[in-house]
Amino acid sequence: MKTLHVELGDRRYPIHIGPGLLARPELLTPCIPGRQALVVSNTTVAPLYLEPVRASLDGLRHEAVILPDGEQYKTLDTLNEIFTALLNHRFDRNCTVIALGGGVIGDMAGFAAACYQRGVHFIQIPTTLLAQVDSSVGGKTAVNHPFGKNMIGAFYQPLGVLADTDTLATLPDRELSAGLAEVIKYGLIRDLPFLEWLEANLEALMARDAAALSEAIDRSCRNKAEIVAADERETGERALLNLGHTFGHAIETGVGYGQWLHGEAVATGMVMAADLSARLGWLNREQVERVRALLARARLPVQPPMALTPDDFLRLMAVDKKVKDGRLRLILLRNLGQAVIASDINPRLLIETLETSL
Ligand code: NAD
Ligand code: GLY
Repeated sequence: MKTLHVELGDRRYPIHIGPGLLARPELLTPCIPGRQALVVSNTTVAPLYLEPVRASLDGLRHEAVILPDGEQYKTLDTLNEIFTALLNHRFDRNCTVIALGGGVIGDMAGFAAACYQRGVHFIQIPTTLLAQVDSSVGGKTAVNHPFGKNMIGAFYQPLGVLADTDTLATLPDRELSAGLAEVIKYGLIRDLPFLEWLEANLEALMARDAAALSEAIDRSCRNKAEIVAADERETGERALLNLGHTFGHAIETGVGYGQWLHGEAVATGMVMAADLSARLGWLNREQVERVRALLARARLPVQPPMALTPDDFLRLMAVDKKVKDGRLRLILLRNLGQAVIASDINPRLLIETLETSL
């Protein structure tokens, strides 16, 4: 097992990464200050992993709420099911909400923990690659609104993250690929040696080689933990984690939540961001091809859906959390391994990217 920390002063917390962690109560219980815990999971993950988690909670009062599975359920209505469970069980302000699942469960359970009685304790047990490398770390929590992805939420850090790599054995191939999109993102935005390592080890990752996956999760979490420690509330550098996300969120919202996986939309969005970076003279065409080829090798889509027009993109991209004073800002690549926040983007170049991509 490896343990990293997110260095946030008195809110510092551990990320444990390794096999067999669900069966190790000594990792979970130190993160639970009180006597009550509510596990939030879904209809797919609970039958696989709820029992070992409940066994680790032996000696505490523990309950579970099982939500429907899917991005389309990442809503205020579903969130209310968590509040209802907490109230039904008369859980108090010293209770702990434990997210057991992928990013959808993590984001919703975290937001519920942030809101219930104005904030209760929270733990992440991520079970997808995407959640282990990205969403469980850093305290972004949210639900979607029909008009925009993750538009209602809060920054709310967990007390600990337990990434049991054994859980990845049951993950469908398509979900593994979606997680790889976020892994590749770290290489592209700030870690060229990691990008080169990924180019050399992609097939091992796709074959779920345990050592390769563990290395990729560790290096991803190190990158994320550093960024979050430096800029928890995204006043600057943290925005770089959104490479490909403005295009990607437009795809997810435009085609309907749950149609494209988040990682798939981000992969296509990163190719579009690389294309726009080339139009600005920052990348050359070989570098854009290098980005596209790596994502395609991870069996990720690299072209946006035909159902969306450039006008759809422009309308949907205007609802983005990076929009500031009504102006669009995008994360682009000055070079491979060097992302930047770009504002005042020439609209003609953006439209060229949209038209050629579509
Ligand atoms: P997800 O939570 O929908 O999980 C993907 C699918 O895999 C689901 O069907 C889930 O039930 C299933 N699953 C989970 N673990 C499994 C396992 N071990 N075995 C078998 N099936 C399993 O999707 P995701 O890709 O984990 O997360 C995407 C969400 O995360 C999006 O809503 C996105 O907005 C959010 N996100 C948040 C952050 C953040 O910083 N908070 C970062 C990135 C993404
Ligand atoms: N996934 C983007 C962030 O955590 O900031």
